[in-house]
Amino acid sequence: MKVLVATEKPFSKVAVDGIKAVTDAAGYELVLLEKYTDKSQFLNAVADVDAMIIRSDKVDAEVLDAAKNLKIVVRAGAGYDNIDLEAATAHKVVAMNTPGQNANSVAELVFGLLVYAVRNFFNGTSGTELKGKKLGILAFGNVGRNVARIAKGFGMEIAAYDAYCPKEVIEDAGVVVVDSQDALFETCDIVSLHIPATPETKQSINAALVGKLKKGGILVNTARKEVINEPELLALLEERTDLKYVTDIKPDMDAEYAEKLSGRYFATPKKMGAQTAEANVNAGIAAANQIVGYLEQGITKFQVNK
Ligand code: 3PG
Repeated sequence: MKVLVATEKPFSKVAVDGIKAVTDAAGYELVLLEKYTDKSQFLNAVADVDAMIIRSDKVDAEVLDAAKNLKIVVRAGAGYDNIDLEAATAHKVVAMNTPGQNANSVAELVFGLLVYAVRNFFNGTSGTELKGKKLGILAFGNVGRNVARIAKGFGMEIAAYDAYCPKEVIEDAGVVVVDSQDALFETCDIVSLHIPATPETKQSINAALVGKLKKGGILVNTARKEVINEPELLALLEERTDLKYVTDIKPDMDAEYAEKLSGRYFATPKKMGAQTAEANVNAGIAAANQIVGYLEQGITKFQVNK
């Protein structure tokens, strides 16, 4: 069996070594396509592989057409909006993710971004502390739960809204449950987004919602750029000069955001949430094990195109 690791944004070396140890033990061949700059390189690389590990790399119908032997693709990470699930099913390709494996890494970055924001982007002026501020967590999945855990260490008050997570799960984590997105934005100083990009959530973070934030509020996005209504958010932030926006996913309108929101906006140049050796090892090795588990024993746990 031939396994391809296709990562435009490469894993750490220790993670690649770990993946190779798993595929070697199974007697599989491992090939790497890292930092590719053109889709044609990806299309060539998939031609004869049986399995593939990806990150945010786009797996669409064209890639699946080119991957004639492909049986399984594992997104080493949480969000699988970069895989065309219908096309995967039509091509009889199993698609999986590795939920939770990079959650702590993303959650820690939330606080890196927040400290940067409340200290006025380290411009030397007096900022504020996170202690005592109310943090709203939008969606209480693996990342949201880690954010709550870390927020306690900062001495923050914590609330969460999740349309799908049972209330008891949130309460048991010592977090206050609110019953709508609106209520979360209305009652919190800071809102951290942890919703996936789905047809339901796309562009759902709009001016009406963010405009409910209290004076001096901060929106932090380590989820997806697609959940933001970019033109509306920009217009709102121009009007509400008290608000800040920090994001790990550069908006399409980054240049306009940077120009118009100087001193109140920061976007990482490349998505950094899961970019730690630990997260790479956790997600990469989990992906390799899931491939072996599927090809050797038909294990379909974590399949997302059932
Ligand atoms: C995820 O969905 O797991 C994160 O957004 C990480 O994405 P990345 O692997 O492209 O860094």
